[in-house]
Amino acid sequence: MLQVITIDGVSGSGKSSTAKLLAKQLGFCHLDTGAMYRTHTLMAIRSGLKPDQYDELGRLAEKLDFSFSDAKELMVNGKPLPSEIRSPEISSHVSEYCKPHEVRKVMALQQRKLGLSKPCVAEGRDMATVVFPDARWKFYMTARPEVRAQRRVKELELAGHSVKYEEILRNLGERDDKDSNREHAPLKKAENAVEIDTSDLTMDQQVSTIANLVRSAP
Ligand code: DC
Repeated sequence: MLQVITIDGVSGSGKSSTAKLLAKQLGFCHLDTGAMYRTHTLMAIRSGLKPDQYDELGRLAEKLDFSFSDAKELMVNGKPLPSEIRSPEISSHVSEYCKPHEVRKVMALQQRKLGLSKPCVAEGRDMATVVFPDARWKFYMTARPEVRAQRRVKELELAGHSVKYEEILRNLGERDDKDSNREHAPLKKAENAVEIDTSDLTMDQQVSTIANLVRSAP
């Protein structure tokens, strides 16, 4: 079976930090597919493309060449991913831009290629259901909306953005809705994925819960 750990789940469930730490601990690459879609959205907006320009968005996706650095982090066209991909502006637009089939099929192919090239922790929405149905370990992370919004506020404030809790809570809810109800590759728990509710877990507990399950089911 494929040496890939998939972590799918809603925004703010702790996927990204958990995936990053878990990858470090196990010496795996960190395949942050949300960051790939965010990079595509940033480039699309910079190029003046609208979310309904499906063919142009697909062609833009083809021009983005993702790879792993020596430090096992994602790069785009040989460079680190731009920090702007985490801005509130990109967060509020990414669900629209990542929806078209023309974009998803190109990105999924790249993700699959990266996952086949090295053992990795693949984090996203459709990792277990679409991109890596043959992954060896599958996890699905959830958390209560209020907890997720508080975490996101802290994260953004630390990164120097000034944000409002209510706005973040609303943005998370809207994104969950769009990600779960879109036509292509919606957010969905795979039947054989292990569900982990992180609402009352510390980051250390989230990472060790998954690491222990991975080690006990080699
Ligand atoms: O995990 P994140 O918040 O960085 O993801 C950004 C957006 O990309 C989010 O709206 C869902 C979308 N996404 C997706 O549709 N499929 C993936 N595999 C990963 C992310």
